[in-house]
Amino acid sequence: MELDVPRLDDLQLRGKRVLVRVDFNVPVDEKGAITDDTRIRASLPTIAEIIAKGGKPVLLSHFGRPKGKVVESMRLTAAGKRLAELLKTPVQKAGECLLLENLRFHPEEEANDPVFAKALALSGDLFVNDAFGSSHRDHASVCGIARLLPSAAGRLMEKEIAAFRRVLVEPAQPFLAILGGAKVSDKLKVVDHLLEKVNAILVGGGMAYTFLKAQDHRVGKSLVQEDQIDLVLKSLMKAERMGIPILLPEDHVCATAFAENSKPIPSGVDIDDALLGLDIGPKTAATYRRKILEAKTVVWNGPMGVFEWPSFRAGTDAVAHAVADCPGYTVVGGGDSVAAVERAQLTSRIKRAPCSPASRSSCASAPDPANSLVSQLQSATADTACPSCKNARSSSRLRSSPATSRASARRSRARKRPARTGSTST
Ligand code: 3PG
Ligand code: MG
Repeated sequence: MELDVPRLDDLQLRGKRVLVRVDFNVPVDEKGAITDDTRIRASLPTIAEIIAKGGKPVLLSHFGRPKGKVVESMRLTAAGKRLAELLKTPVQKAGECLLLENLRFHPEEEANDPVFAKALALSGDLFVNDAFGSSHRDHASVCGIARLLPSAAGRLMEKEIAAFRRVLVEPAQPFLAILGGAKVSDKLKVVDHLLEKVNAILVGGGMAYTFLKAQDHRVGKSLVQEDQIDLVLKSLMKAERMGIPILLPEDHVCATAFAENSKPIPSGVDIDDALLGLDIGPKTAATYRRKILEAKTVVWNGPMGVFEWPSFRAGTDAVAHAVADCPGYTVVGGGDSVAAVERAQLTSRIKRAPCSPASRSSCASAPDPANSLVSQLQSATADTACPSCKNARSSSRLRSSPATSRASARRSRARKRPARTGSTST
């Protein structure tokens, strides 16, 4: 299928400094060691091609959510090291490839500050977006720079778009979406869009508890985003109107505390006040497996539980195996889901496993001048200035949403209820 945005082939790369937005937001363990380098490996074709065609890649990425401050554990050092090993070329301030420090150490990145975007843009001649996993973010290094420099999609972006087109344009039916992960707020828009396309949605992970609470189930101490409950109800009612089932866990694996060594405690759909849900239970996993095997198209994003901890991994593993066993076209997206598939050594059985002059004033508030983007850009300018380029700068009951009488009851209550306020649980 044709890509209707400019591609690498449309850029003249020779002698140019090419800002490449990559997504090196990789999973790491408690010591900061990378546990899955899929996203770094996935960026190699674009980086290698730019180098091979005589361009100099200047890589831009975020890592974690440091909220505009320098957080030592969120430096891109380990990612840079891994990239250098994979590229077999130094990744540093001098050398063939430069990786800037975590852009989210600067609040201007997430604010899509135009001055910050301009500062970034000044250290490159061209912009390539290869960060598919971050491309839904209206951030300076994603949208801001693209408005300022000749831009193109990278090779990974091209592949991801092609994979998603295949599922979004006339997908084979039944088409099933599996959504998990911690935050329901990140996924509600996705749910709303998917409702137009899919035949059913399976929900697991932390986000399931907000759905269950919205249906008046007891969720104990589980993760719930109270401020999202009304929106969840809207999505449930939209699904009901459309006749698209949204399946929720019918049992859980719980614990008394959010800790790796917590004893796993099985629970039915309603969770005791003293417990919190950390994984879907075996009945849910079996139901989800049945549904997945019947599907002709499957999109999976987000783990079913705290899969990093062995006691709470069975649900995610079960879904990973079911997706691998599904004879249909399967797409796994999102760092954690891809990591789960990798860990279970199932990647090859997934049809598609994708994985999104510097202004001093804009950077003056950088908490650690040594990390200042300005100094990085200045180094970039010095190291990347190209002699030939004059411009060198730098649910017992699996909950199926239709006929959710409780949801309907809540709807009328929600309408009467004053707008909820309060912070989002994380
Ligand atoms: C991801 O891992 O989902 C992407 O890297 C985007 O990260 P974000 O959700 O923190 O913007
Ligand atoms: Mg994401």
